[in-house]
Amino acid sequence: MSTTAAMEVKTPEVKTAAELAQQPEEYRTAVQKIVISHAVNELYGAQVFDEPAIKLAPTPYAKWLTCRVAMEEYHHHVRFKALADEIGVSAERMDPQRKRPLSIFGFNLRTWPEFCVIKAIADYAEILQVEDLLHCSFHPLRNLARITMPEEKFHAKFGKDFCQELIQQGKAAEVQDGIDRYFPITPGFFGANHSKNNEIYRKWGLKQRTNEEMRQDFVARVTELVEKDFGLKLPALN
Ligand SMILES: [Fe+2]
Ligand SMILES: [Fe+2]
Repeated sequence: MSTTAAMEVKTPEVKTAAELAQQPEEYRTAVQKIVISHAVNELYGAQVFDEPAIKLAPTPYAKWLTCRVAMEEYHHHVRFKALADEIGVSAERMDPQRKRPLSIFGFNLRTWPEFCVIKAIADYAEILQVEDLLHCSFHPLRNLARITMPEEKFHAKFGKDFCQELIQQGKAAEVQDGIDRYFPITPGFFGANHSKNNEIYRKWGLKQRTNEEMRQDFVARVTELVEKDFGLKLPALN
């Protein structure tokens, strides 16, 4: 059924915000939803994880790198917010107080190992999301994805490297504990199966993959990271 929907329209190539204004309402609304979601979640993540983690970082070197991560996450928000402004999204639609952030941000961060786990796992999920926008039919969003991608890769590598350092320092139990409590809330990040929004995004060439495909890819990749790279155990999902 979704494939039929995907074949109904010819995918447009929309190069500017001005051109977006000429597109059908369904297209404009879909673009706005994607941009709002990124603007809100980048800000929220920076506020609840990256900025507080500067205090938790154990060494000057780790603090410096964490500052860089926090700076980049705030910058992602600033970029998506600027695009949202350009396409006429009102400020209140991006207020984290009003637009509920995703459940992965509901985790109460307390320790450095938890932060390292979050970066290794959640930023990998973010890489998949951004990757899906690399061929987006709305070019300003495609361009933002291309700028953001290397930074998200750096964040995931940051998480992986520091998790491995902790494991080498004999703190594998703390990393495992972070994984046990954080991983189970991450698959929800990709949205519902058979999502109507996702079907519309694919129909218009804004996104490429279904939520189910992205989630499966994510779980496979995190399984490899945790079991092969870390030598730890991934908790079962129910
Ligand atoms: Fe980000
Ligand atoms: Fe990130």
